[in-house]
Amino acid sequence: MRIGVLTGGGDCPGLNAVIRAVVRKGVKEYGYEFVGFRDGWRGPLEGLTMQLDVAATRGILPRGGTILGSSRTNPFKIENGVERIKENLKDAGIDALIAIGGEDTLGVASKLHGLGVKVIGVPKTIDNDLDNTDYTFGFDTAVNIAVEAIDRLHTTAESHHRALIVEVMGRHAGWIALHSGIAGGAACILIPEQKFSVEKVCEWVESRFKTNYAPIIVIAEGAIPQDGDMVTKDASLDSFGHAKLSGIGDWLANEIETRTGKEARTSVLGHIQRGGTPSAFDRVLATRFGLMAITAAHEGDWGKMVALHGTDIVRVSLASATEKLKAVNLERYKEAEIFFG
Ligand code: F6P
Repeated sequence: MRIGVLTGGGDCPGLNAVIRAVVRKGVKEYGYEFVGFRDGWRGPLEGLTMQLDVAATRGILPRGGTILGSSRTNPFKIENGVERIKENLKDAGIDALIAIGGEDTLGVASKLHGLGVKVIGVPKTIDNDLDNTDYTFGFDTAVNIAVEAIDRLHTTAESHHRALIVEVMGRHAGWIALHSGIAGGAACILIPEQKFSVEKVCEWVESRFKTNYAPIIVIAEGAIPQDGDMVTKDASLDSFGHAKLSGIGDWLANEIETRTGKEARTSVLGHIQRGGTPSAFDRVLATRFGLMAITAAHEGDWGKMVALHGTDIVRVSLASATEKLKAVNLERYKEAEIFFG
C-alpha cells in the first residue's frame, strides 16, 4: 500500500513523533511506501509532496513543529477542492491518507471519508479540545510551558506587588488555562466556557494582596467578560471561520488597575506554547497514536480516529470526534474555584 501523510492546522509538539511511528511501523511490519504531503490539505490539493521514508524520519522524535509543514487550508472552501484532491491522490498512486490534525483538519478528513477517500485521523492540538479522546498530544507540553511561566511570574509579581495576568491559548476551550492555573496556583482562572465577572476577579485580586501574596490570573485568550465580547486582533477570519484572538489579558489588566488601584501587567504566552520539543508524555502518546494509525490503515478501518481512552489507544469514528468541541465541564472548573482568591 502507498500511504500519504499530512499535518494540518496549528502545529504542535509531537507531530514528528507520530510521523516517525507511522513510517517506521508501516515500512518494517507491512512493507508500505509513504508520501509526505506538504502544508496540510494544501499538499493533496496542489500535489505538493516530499519524500517520506525511514531515513527522512531519523532524529525527528524530539523535534517540535512538523517536517511536513502545516496550513489552515480548507479544500471545501476552494472550487473543485475535493475533485482536485482525488485526482492528485490518484496521480501520485496514493491508496490512503493519514491526516494528523485538530477539529478543522479532521473535520475535512471526516467529510472526505464520506466522499469515498480512505482516511485515518490522528488527533493533535495543544488546546485538548477534540472530542472522544481523553487527551491530544501537544497539550501536556503546552501546559508545562505555561506552568513554568507562571512559576517565574510569581516571583516577579511578589517583588513588585503587582497582579500578573498570563494569557494562554484556548479559543473556545479552557483546558490549557485550567490545567496550568491549577498546577501554577493561580489566584483565578478564566476560561471561555464560563463568562467572568470583573468585580469578582477584582475581589480575588484584593484578597491575595491582603495575605501579602501577589495574584497570578490565568486567562484563556477566548475568555469573555459577563458584559463584553471576545477580544480579537482584527476583523479577519481564516478559511475555517476563526478569528485571531489575543488582547483580553491587556483589557483585564486595565480593568484591575482602574478598579483596585493596584498595578497589573500581562504576559501573552502565544506561540511559545506551541513551539519546541515535546514533553516525554507527548512523545509517548504521539508514538502510540502513530502505531495505532498505521495498524488501522493495515486493517482497512477507514474513517476512524485513533484516541486515548484511559490508558488505552482505541479507534473511534472521525465523525464522533469532530461533531462538537470537548469543552471544560463545570465540575472540573469548580475543582479549581476552591483555590481562587
Ligand atoms: O491550534 C489552536 C490554537 O492553538 C488556538 O488556541 C489559537 O487561537 C490558534 O491556534 C492560533 O493559531 P495561529 O497560529 O493560526 O494564529
